[in-house]
Amino acid sequence: METTTLPSIFPSVFYTIMVLFLVLLPCHASDPDPLQDFCVADLQSTASINGFPCKPQSTVNSSDFFFSGFTKEGNTSNPFGAIVTPGNVLSFPGLNTLGISMNRVDFAPGGLNPPHSHPRASESGVVIQGKLLVGFITTRNVFYSKVLGPGEMFVIPRGLVHFQKNVGEGKALAFTAFNSQLSGAVVAAPNLFGATPAVPNNVLAQAFQIDDSLVNQIKSKFMP
Ligand SMILES: *[C@@H]1O[C@H](CO)[C@@H](O)[C@H](O)[C@H]1NC(C)=O
Ligand SMILES: *[C@@H]1O[C@H](CO)[C@@H](O)[C@H](O)[C@H]1NC(C)=O
Repeated sequence: METTTLPSIFPSVFYTIMVLFLVLLPCHASDPDPLQDFCVADLQSTASINGFPCKPQSTVNSSDFFFSGFTKEGNTSNPFGAIVTPGNVLSFPGLNTLGISMNRVDFAPGGLNPPHSHPRASESGVVIQGKLLVGFITTRNVFYSKVLGPGEMFVIPRGLVHFQKNVGEGKALAFTAFNSQLSGAVVAAPNLFGATPAVPNNVLAQAFQIDDSLVNQIKSKFMP
């Protein structure tokens, strides 16, 4: 009987293919990939999983894949003069497992979408109306910013602190998009000064190098 041996070239071909395979594997830096066409979220489910369980396919219809929450202008009567209308999995359950979402952001003249970060998504956005100063700050404390007009787009790298401020004469409107069904938002000021239970005053006074009375003054604006 004849014995067959693998050609001596085999190991190098094998390792080349392995390396290519690993390099070309998609990088799961954000939400995980879906395992089926769709999984319309059952927000009422008591099961606790990473995301939401799917509602039964027999109960899914066209309404599950369309969202009209962005048709109305948001009410900007608040201390910041800006309001975010979220189109995420909580308001639009059809997004569940698909790794994407959007927000509508309305600004009164001078309005500010205050410094915040999204722990689970990078953000891209486009200005539809008005003039917005858009800026983000890196982990090295470098500030990148630009004033944008209608049709102009921006990107905020995942997790970095950023803001948008209306610097035009009238109202402003922007739409933002995220590579997560629920990007999360850590809004800097209320996160630190409005937490429940409260972060101790001496921690905040030391962190910001300010005195106790100033901590109390800021807390009074953000405590729920
Ligand atoms: C889809 O089903 C919901 C109830 O689950 C119903 O209210 C709605 O009218 C249906 N939409 C369509 C387009 O059939
Ligand atoms: C906007 O919100 C303010 C404050 O909550 C409220 O007084 C006002 O009636 C709202 N305006 C509209 C058009 O809903």
